[in-house]
Amino acid sequence: MTTVWVPQDASARAVGADEVAAALAQVEGVTVRRNGTRGMLWREPLVEVETDRGRVGYAEVTADGIPDLVRAGMLTGADHETCIGVVDDDRWLAAQDRVSLARIGLAEPTDITAYEAQGGWAGLRRALELDPADVVEEVLTSGLRGRGGAGFPTGIKWRTVLEAEADQKFVACNLDEGDSGTFADRILAEADPFTLVEGMTIAAVTVGATEGFVYCRSEYPDAIARLRDAIAVAGEHGYLGEDVAGSGRAFRLQVRVGAGAYICGEETSMLESLEGRRGEVRAKPPIPALHGLWGSPTVVNNLLSFAAIPMILADGGQAYADRGVGRSRGTQIFQLAGNIARGGVYEAPLGITLRELVQDIGGGTRTGRPVRAVQVGGPLGAYLPAERLDVPMGYEELADAGGMLGHGGIVVFDDTVDMSRMARFAMEFCSVESCGKCTPCRIGSTRGVETIDRLRGATDPGERTQLRLLLDDLCETMTTGSLCAMGGLTPVPVRSALTHFPEDFERSRS
Ligand SMILES: Cc1cc2nc3c(=O)[nH]c(=O)nc-3n(C[C@H](O)[C@H](O)[C@H](O)COP(=O)(O)O)c2cc1C
Ligand code: SF4
Repeated sequence: MTTVWVPQDASARAVGADEVAAALAQVEGVTVRRNGTRGMLWREPLVEVETDRGRVGYAEVTADGIPDLVRAGMLTGADHETCIGVVDDDRWLAAQDRVSLARIGLAEPTDITAYEAQGGWAGLRRALELDPADVVEEVLTSGLRGRGGAGFPTGIKWRTVLEAEADQKFVACNLDEGDSGTFADRILAEADPFTLVEGMTIAAVTVGATEGFVYCRSEYPDAIARLRDAIAVAGEHGYLGEDVAGSGRAFRLQVRVGAGAYICGEETSMLESLEGRRGEVRAKPPIPALHGLWGSPTVVNNLLSFAAIPMILADGGQAYADRGVGRSRGTQIFQLAGNIARGGVYEAPLGITLRELVQDIGGGTRTGRPVRAVQVGGPLGAYLPAERLDVPMGYEELADAGGMLGHGGIVVFDDTVDMSRMARFAMEFCSVESCGKCTPCRIGSTRGVETIDRLRGATDPGERTQLRLLLDDLCETMTTGSLCAMGGLTPVPVRSALTHFPEDFERSRS
């Protein structure tokens, strides 16, 4: 029998992976196994055939194309126009520094034996041997900063929860992943859910939490199902439950599903939602680390933050800190999206430039036209012009260039984009997604849409000047007067569009 791997990742399924798997299952001598994606999304469905040389990949396979591929010798790894060779040797993949993504696509996502064989649970075992304060020390040494967007040092957050006096503490994973052009959380949850389970369990046994929640957006049904399966399997194998890995410590984990609001990714709003209320932002302080779920100390981290933890414990914080730039240590899972030739997830040390990511790794635009703008860090991130692509991808480095790293999403636009429309979209997005708690965001974003519409339509120079001043004033009010970063950062993309692409606000007059 020949083993053939077909990804069951949602992005692969969206382009026919299930049909490909079904067609391959009909071929005599073939055993079909379903892995997660390798992250090369432009190549999905990427089918891998086990051969003596390793797993040989065939890209963009269709169910109809299977008979031809089999005739061409696919089952022995024969060359073909769709063949990319041995997948592990592929340049795009091999050039990455995969730490958190090290295991994606290698096995069936809930195969716990494979997880263990690939080094899984080593981080948890070490964490259980150490004093909790020493685990926190490792996380501090790693320099890991929250990958959800704010970039707050994870070790400091954990230390705060560890030192808080309380009968009950919680660990919560933010898997709301609402930023435009982001999908790393989903891919990891679908392809390697045990890494998240392990990272959260390490957090729990460290800070003394016995209950944990993964808050996942409802738009990720495959991730929800995979995580629930993984939690059940981990429980059966003694890694979750009343006696975690024989340590005598308890940690129970469950998945809760959101209801589709961008603001539920903001941590206090997420806590409200987890408690069964409408997702509305809470004023801070008190911070969730001291007063989180049901008023108890709570570790809230993004999935990617938790996913870095097993390696940090297994290999030591210093190994992680040895990567990176400035105060941005470790690796980031960059998500290449929008108008880009090679879209997918790319893990590399922080400090790689945006140009390398967009041009060399991403291959420029999918349309083949020049890159005009790149939005980094989701819908609240700045639109950077092509001249700024040499910025190193680090928290401070991007801030100096007027941008932000956020969750590592990179959305590329070619020279046909109308940036006045993108500025309008930023305000419109905020008006739709605002939780409504504070006036600058709730009302300001709607006024922002109206003002940009008037600016785009105005021909009189005096009126245009007045509208620019009004928009500037509105942006200032939103920046300084909003309760959270939703309203506070919406002016960033608007202002960046006005600064770098003023001609688009003129062009729309015609
Ligand atoms: C409007 C808004 C949306 C956010 N959405 C997310 C999200 O989808 N996922 C996430 O992890 N963090 C999101 N954040 C950041 C969280 O509030 C919080 O900083 C993060 O979950 C903390 O985890 P970390 O320290 O590991 O990044 C959002 C913040 C804001 C203001
Ligand atoms: S800024 Fe917007 S999303 Fe944030 S609290 Fe105010 S109304 Fe809610």
